[in-house]
Amino acid sequence: MIIAIDGPAASGKSTAAIGVAKCLNITYLDTGAMYRAVTFGLIDNNIEFENSTTIKRYLETIDIKFSESSSGLSLILNNRDITKEIRSTIVTEKVSEVSALESVRKSMVSIQRKMAEIDDCILEGRDIGSVVFPNADFKFFLIADEKARAERRLEDLKAIGEESSVEKVMSDLINRDYKDSTRKHSPLKKPNDAIIIDTSDLGINEVIDKIVNIVNQKRTLQ
Ligand code: DC
Repeated sequence: MIIAIDGPAASGKSTAAIGVAKCLNITYLDTGAMYRAVTFGLIDNNIEFENSTTIKRYLETIDIKFSESSSGLSLILNNRDITKEIRSTIVTEKVSEVSALESVRKSMVSIQRKMAEIDDCILEGRDIGSVVFPNADFKFFLIADEKARAERRLEDLKAIGEESSVEKVMSDLINRDYKDSTRKHSPLKKPNDAIIIDTSDLGINEVIDKIVNIVNQKRTLQ
């Protein structure tokens, strides 16, 4: 079974997907973290985003893994734990540029399809229901108003010790959503057959319950 959750930045996708994965005892894949990992890797290796040949070569050398730890899911890039680094402002500012590159998308989509082959999976991102798994068993599209999203992202930043303001975070989110929705390859777009959930005024458990109920109802009917 594949459950796809897409939506704009900070719409509550990760928290919802983690909770649903726990409830249904299935695997969770944070595909945004993978694009963030590549962005971190390129910056760390001083590879310019315009240098398509070097980027292609770099993509052939990377090994991305998720590892379950007591503090949650860790992202391991070539044996290095970069869970904290991928949430930094510098990576967040550059990730839309990197995730718009065709070679990066091809490589990540291929890894995501392989990772999801093994188990029942819930994947969250921007193109899961539209491109990665167009035949997913369930497709959800999460939205939330800008203020709710900015406040959530500010909390994420605080957790890694970065200071910011609601205004700055909100303008960064709007900017990133614009880039993610207007890029040439696999732009963020609601699939026609996705169920929309507005999480602005919902608690996390309400979002998780909604998704789990829809999945369980359909599974009981089958
Ligand atoms: O969900 P996130 O904020 O961690 O995602 C980071 C960036 O990665 C997002 O701005 C766009 C990109 N992304 C993507 O292009 N496709 C996905 N499936 C997931 C994320």
